[in-house]
Amino acid sequence: MVNVKQIVQLNIIGQNYESLGVAKVDDLVVFVEGAITGETVKARITKVTKSYAVAKLLEVIKPSPNRIKPLCPYFVLCGGCSLLHMNYEAGLNLKLAAFNETLKKIGKIDYLANKIYGMENPSAYRNKIQMPAGTTDKGKLVFGYYQKDSHDVVAIEECLTQSDNVTKVINFVKNVCNELKITSYNEIEKTGEIRHILVRENNKGELMIVLVTYKEKITNEEALVSKIVNKFSNVISIVKNINTMHNNVILGANSICLYGKDEIVDEILGLKFKISHKSFFQINRSQTEKLYSLVLDNLGSDASNMNVIDAYCGVGSISLSLAKRVKHVYGIEIVEEAIKDAKNNAVLNNITNASFYVGKVEDLIDDFIDKNVDCIVVDPPRKGIEEKVLRSIINANIKKIIYVSCNPATLARDIGILKEYYDIKDISLVDMFCMTNGVEVLTVITYKS
Ligand SMILES: C[S@@+](CC[C@H](N)C(=O)[O-])C[C@H]1O[C@@H](n2cnc3c(N)ncnc32)[C@H](O)[C@@H]1O
Repeated sequence: MVNVKQIVQLNIIGQNYESLGVAKVDDLVVFVEGAITGETVKARITKVTKSYAVAKLLEVIKPSPNRIKPLCPYFVLCGGCSLLHMNYEAGLNLKLAAFNETLKKIGKIDYLANKIYGMENPSAYRNKIQMPAGTTDKGKLVFGYYQKDSHDVVAIEECLTQSDNVTKVINFVKNVCNELKITSYNEIEKTGEIRHILVRENNKGELMIVLVTYKEKITNEEALVSKIVNKFSNVISIVKNINTMHNNVILGANSICLYGKDEIVDEILGLKFKISHKSFFQINRSQTEKLYSLVLDNLGSDASNMNVIDAYCGVGSISLSLAKRVKHVYGIEIVEEAIKDAKNNAVLNNITNASFYVGKVEDLIDDFIDKNVDCIVVDPPRKGIEEKVLRSIINANIKKIIYVSCNPATLARDIGILKEYYDIKDISLVDMFCMTNGVEVLTVITYKS
């Protein structure tokens, strides 16, 4: 047995889906953040429960050949990129192994995925950055990320996942806020102004800035906007979003456009997409192109005769890519603004064989499944697919499901339900969120004949 505060030497026998090093003391599993498979480490026990313990890494006695010096100065403090201490290839292999383990454990599925598509240069890949605002001891506003498992903001001046364009504009907004006496929101005292800054960047380097505020009025708002647009000609939109709620949701219900329009146009696979500040859009452009190409490649040779449902379609980015190949696409999405964007995006790209509907997939699926649908593409939020939707798909004998997921656990749960009726044909992982534990997964399943 081990006790809290005890210092132990551990042999790391594996890493889990959160990339924590796993060791054993007698039969007790011990998790060590920052430890890599094959290493021997010295660690201090910080927590002991009946089924596991947690230890803090103190020293790496025998390092893994996969260990590298993290390139980011905020690595230990910031809760963002958890794989920066491993070389990129090793991080990819870890994600693949963790995925297969999840599939087996949760879905009771023995299929072994063996493909993970990484990036050639896995940096500056995010086209959307959102940072909470915090305050320094000296009362200055800063932007950064939350320290792991806390709401303390670690001030960040640069981040490997964002472009120089975005770094420059965020630092400028921070300095101007301080100059103009604009404060950050204090969630304990429920005072202050700026809660978050959100920046979207498109393929041309144009930027949309969203200032999420606690109150409708920002001190010296006009001066702030004019200083930003005078300095950066690539800022094409500034939106103020007001969030008066006391919760962890970033965006509030109301917004006011302070400069330009509430839209930015981005491009994926040669298609243009108008995106408003609230719409979901994949955060890594080149990996999204890889993911969507995989969706298209898996349609099969008779694609041009197929009617396809794109469930959870967002602004229609998968739907419109599909429309170029198939007979008709029916997109379903819960967010009204996103469906408006999807319809406008169809017009923008001269696409006439895609139609879009607002509503919950679970409410609408049965109305669409009768329309001679040959294939359904699903790209649900992290919580996965409602069982009712899975049952509708099974009952309608839909021949092919292409399941795009950002959460291996709910994917495994859902495939676990489908596996009695469907065979897995292919699973590919796409490294959408490089250097973090996150991964996007494409699963192709077909009805058992
Ligand atoms: C992971 S995103 C995928 C969006 C789109 N396929 C893309 O690649 O940009 C999931 C989408 O599902 C929508 N959504 C969440 N729950 C839903 C539901 N019950 N019915 C319909 N859409 C839903 C969200 O608003 C979001 O746009």
